[in-house]
Amino acid sequence: MRLLVCGGAGFIGSNFVRQRVGEHGDEVVVLDKLTYAGRPENLRDVEHVFVHGAIEDPAAVADALEHGVEAVVNFAAETHVDRSISGPEAFLRTQMDGTYVLLEAARERGLRYVQVSTDEVYGSIEEGSFTEASPLNPSSPYSATKTGADLLVTSYVHTYAVNASICRGSNAYGPRQYPEKLIPLMILNALHGDPLPVYGDGLQVRNWLYVEDFARGIGHVLQHGQAGAVYNVGGPDEATNLDVVRRIIALTGATEDLIEHVTDRPGHDRRYSLASDKIRALGWQAQVRFDQGLEHTVAWYRENTWWWEPIRSGEYRAYYERQYGRALG
Ligand SMILES: NC(=O)c1ccc[n+]([C@@H]2O[C@H](COP(=O)([O-])OP(=O)(O)OC[C@H]3O[C@@H](n4cnc5c(N)ncnc54)[C@H](O)[C@@H]3O)[C@@H](O)[C@H]2O)c1
Repeated sequence: MRLLVCGGAGFIGSNFVRQRVGEHGDEVVVLDKLTYAGRPENLRDVEHVFVHGAIEDPAAVADALEHGVEAVVNFAAETHVDRSISGPEAFLRTQMDGTYVLLEAARERGLRYVQVSTDEVYGSIEEGSFTEASPLNPSSPYSATKTGADLLVTSYVHTYAVNASICRGSNAYGPRQYPEKLIPLMILNALHGDPLPVYGDGLQVRNWLYVEDFARGIGHVLQHGQAGAVYNVGGPDEATNLDVVRRIIALTGATEDLIEHVTDRPGHDRRYSLASDKIRALGWQAQVRFDQGLEHTVAWYRENTWWWEPIRSGEYRAYYERQYGRALG
């Protein structure tokens, strides 16, 4: 297939592009604004055409589509909940305006469209798991703007018969994830002997999904999903944040006295959990259990210092100081 992958220089997008080119022989055009989270080096070993631009810019989207594609897969988003609390505007621009521009382009050209979304649109659940029919109940500017984008996608299916599907993933982890997110943050801090900042009591539960499993699920929906359908893509295992941190301590050889409980995130969702029966019926299944994926991820960060050294000395350092009120070591 010939694909336009928006946000393909980020964590999940770059894993998806690597998979599609390497395993499916797809030709891929990447459109990416290269925010702090977008890194061309994520794709340095993958053949693709790169267009630098924002999805909310119709001229940039038209430029990218000049290359001739059959489908659009949209990963592009502002993705960090903490940043959405301190500065929500960019989240509205990218999630709302950007998704609108892409949907218009898909409508005009009759393109297949897949929106990459998140379990956070359902909000928190104490027991059981969310299905695709569960009510949408987002609680942060990040999840609210992702929900808005999902609703816009559905409206384009109903109103303009755009051939679009939505894929809602649970918490992804794996190589090339920006270190503001829990798992790479803890791995890099543990490797440096820096404190491990745990929000509140650390008993928030997440449903962990290895990035390659998520990417494969999105490819599966692209090829086999129905127009207008939503597919949950949940990981095989749940764990509390504190349990994740303890496993990382064990894998890195750090010590528990590095754990530091810090003030909880405002409105922090307690538990996310997805039922993924619908995508399983389509033939997808998660392959990587959390223990195995986490071990691989820790090994990847140990071995790929070239990838994260520039991040730990740049914008991220200032962000970290603002967020946690202390400098990185
Ligand atoms: N990380 C997770 O745990 C997770 C889970 C479920 C769903 N998702 C969704 O998956 C998608 C990818 O997440 P990620 O973790 O890879 O994010 P990321 O922050 O690593 O990457 C986002 C990418 O989008 C690009 N981008 C941002 N704004 C843009 C814009 N306006 N125009 C063009 N490009 C832009 C960035 O430069 C970056 O390359 C997002 O839509 C996110 O909501 C993420």
